[in-house]
Amino acid sequence: MTDQFPAHVVQAFRGSRVLITGGAGFIGGHIGRTVAALGGHVRVLDDLSGGFAENVPEGGELFRVSVLDTATLTQAIAGCDFVFHQAAMVSVPVSVEHPAECTQVNIVGTQNVLEAARKARVRRVMFAASAAAYGNNPVLPCQEDRAADAWSPYAMSKVAGELLCQTYSRNFGLSTAALRYFNVFGERQNANSAYAAVISAFEKALRAGTRPRIFGDGGQTRDFVHVSNVVRANLLAAASPRPLCGEPINIGTGIRTDLLSVLRHMAAALGCPADAEFLPARAGDIRDSVADISRARELLGYEVTIDFAAGIRRMFAAPAGNTSALVSR
Ligand SMILES: NC(=O)c1ccc[n+]([C@@H]2O[C@H](COP(=O)([O-])OP(=O)(O)OC[C@H]3O[C@@H](n4cnc5c(N)ncnc54)[C@H](O)[C@@H]3O)[C@@H](O)[C@H]2O)c1
Repeated sequence: MTDQFPAHVVQAFRGSRVLITGGAGFIGGHIGRTVAALGGHVRVLDDLSGGFAENVPEGGELFRVSVLDTATLTQAIAGCDFVFHQAAMVSVPVSVEHPAECTQVNIVGTQNVLEAARKARVRRVMFAASAAAYGNNPVLPCQEDRAADAWSPYAMSKVAGELLCQTYSRNFGLSTAALRYFNVFGERQNANSAYAAVISAFEKALRAGTRPRIFGDGGQTRDFVHVSNVVRANLLAAASPRPLCGEPINIGTGIRTDLLSVLRHMAAALGCPADAEFLPARAGDIRDSVADISRARELLGYEVTIDFAAGIRRMFAAPAGNTSALVSR
C-alpha cells in the first residue's frame, strides 16, 4: 500500500512521532497513512473545517482544534520528531472574501506551529507552501530564485509562511522545509466544495453524467502532481541529512498539461464524452504554470514516481492501458 521509499526514509519514520496539522484533509491524510504504514505514530491537529476524521489513520490521535489554540498545539507537539504543517485556509477566493481570517489561520497559525516546534525541539517542520507564490510570473518553468509575486491574500500568506520558516531556522536553529506544491490531485480529494480543485471537480461531473465546467477556453496549463509524489517529497524532506532552512522547494512534475487535455484524458478513462461547459475566464486566474524541479532533485533526491496518467489510474482505480492518450506539453 505504500510506495517504495529509500532505506533512510524507512528508518527515519519507524517508531517516530509526527504531528500533522491539517491531517484530516486531503494531502495531510495521505501523509498520515504513509507515516503510519512505515511504523510511525501519527497525531493530527485539525479543526475539521475542511477535513474529515476518517482521514486520520487507524491508531492515530485527533486533536480537534484550530492551529490558533496554542495550548493544545503545545500538547499535541510534545515529543514529536517531525511536524507536517498542512492546515490552512486553502481557497484563494475565500481568502479574498476574508483576508483577516486568512492572515490569522495561515500566518499566525504558522507562527504558532513554528514556535511550538521550536520549544518542543522537533527535528524538522515541513511547511505546505504554494506555487501561488509565482503569481503571474511569465517565465517558465517557475524557478524558486525568482522574487515572489503574490496577488491574493492566500498567496501572500503562503509567502509569509516561507519567510517565517526561514526566520525560525536562522534565529533559532529550527530546521524547516518549505515545499511549494503545484496542482495536487488524487484519491480522496474533496470534490464537494465550491472551490474544488479542477481534477476532482471534473471527476465528480463526469461520474454524474454532467458537463465539467471550464473557466476560459481550456488552453490554460498547470503542473498536475499526484499526491503520492507530494507525500514522497515531504518524507524525503523530513529524512534529508541536508541542513534545510526554509528555502522554497518546488514540488511538481516539470510537465504542464492544458485543461482540455486533462478532460479528454479523464473522459476516455471513464468511457464518457469529453464535453465541457465553457464559462468566462475568472479574473486573477493565471494562464500557464509549470515547476522547475531541479532544486527538489538536488536537495531532497525527489523524483516523480507517479506520472499524470498513473495518477489518474489510481484515482479511478481503473486497469492500466485505459488512460494512455494524454497529450501534454
Ligand atoms: N491541493 C493543492 O493543490 C495545494 C497546492 C498548493 C498548496 N497546498 C497547501 O497544502 C495544504 C493542504 O491542502 P489540501 O489540498 O490537503 O487541503 P484540505 O482542505 O483538504 O486540507 C486542509 C486541512 O486543514 C484543516 N484546517 C483548516 N483550517 C484549520 C485551522 N485553523 N486549524 C486546524 N486545521 C485547519 C482543514 O480542516 C483540512 O482538513 C494547505 O496548506 C494548502 O494551502 C495545496
